[in-house]
Amino acid sequence: MDLDSVTTDLKVTLPQHVAIIMDGNGRWAKEKHIPRFEGYREGARRGKEIILSASRFGIKWLTLYAFSNENWQRPKYQINFLMFLLKNYLREGRKEIMDNNIRFVFIGRKEMLPDSVKNELAKTLEVSKNNEGMTLCLAINYGGRQEIVDAARSIAKDVVGKKYPLSAIDEKRFGSMLYLPEMPDVDLVIRTSGEQRISNFLLWQISYAELWFCPVYWPDFTREHLYEALLDFSKRKRRFGNTL
Ligand code: IPE
Ligand code: IPE
Ligand code: MG
Repeated sequence: MDLDSVTTDLKVTLPQHVAIIMDGNGRWAKEKHIPRFEGYREGARRGKEIILSASRFGIKWLTLYAFSNENWQRPKYQINFLMFLLKNYLREGRKEIMDNNIRFVFIGRKEMLPDSVKNELAKTLEVSKNNEGMTLCLAINYGGRQEIVDAARSIAKDVVGKKYPLSAIDEKRFGSMLYLPEMPDVDLVIRTSGEQRISNFLLWQISYAELWFCPVYWPDFTREHLYEALLDFSKRKRRFGNTL
C-alpha cells in the first residue's frame, strides 16, 4: 500500500492528538544480544521517522514519552546516554523540524535536566514557535501525577493570594494550570512492547482517549504500525458517556 496517499482516507476520523509510549528499547537490544544503548539509538531513529510520518498523515498534535520522572531510578550510565540522545535529537533534528513546519513544545520538570538538554530545548522551542504544521511535544522528566500536583500547587497559591475564590476552580481552570494549557485532550494513546499500562503518562489528558497496544518493541515500530493504529482508531465508537 502506498502510505504517502493515505491521509485522504483518514481525514474524517483522524485523531487530533496522538500520544505514544515508546517502550521496549531495552528488550529489543537484549533479544539481539547487543548492548542496551543500541536499543536506545535505534529507538531514537524510529522516533524521528514516526514524527515525520505523523506529520504527513495529518496528525495535528503528537506527544512522545521520552523520559519519565520514575526513569531517574535507572542506572546513571543509562540516564546519561538517554540525555545524550535527546540533546542530539534536538540539535540535529532542528532542521527537519523546521523543514516540515513542525512546532516544537515540551512538558516535564525542566530543573533536573542537564544544561545541555535545557539549552537545546529552549533553542528548538524558540525557532519553531511560529510554525503552523503539527505540534510535536516531548515529555521529558515528565510525570502525570507530578503535573497534577504542580497545577494544584499553583491554584492553591492563587486562592491563598485571593486571586480568585475557591468556587472559581473548575475543570477548565484546572486544565489551564497544567504544563501546556493549550494541549488538546489525547484522542489516541499508543504503547509498544506489549505492556498494557499508562506508566504515569498524561493522566489528566487521557480521560477519554482510545488505547492501542501493540506487541512490537519500539525500535521495530514503523509507519505501517502507526497507520494500523490510526485505522483502528477510525473504527472506534467514542461515546464520551453518552448513548449513540
Ligand atoms: C523505553 O524503553 C524508553 C525509556 C524508558 C527511556 P525501555 O528502556 O523501558 O525498554 P524496556 O522496557 O526495558 O525494554
Ligand atoms: C514508560 O516506560 C516511560 C517511557 C517510555 C519514557 P517504562 O519502561 O519506564 O515504564 P514501566 O516501568 O515499564 O511501567
Ligand atoms: Mg520499559
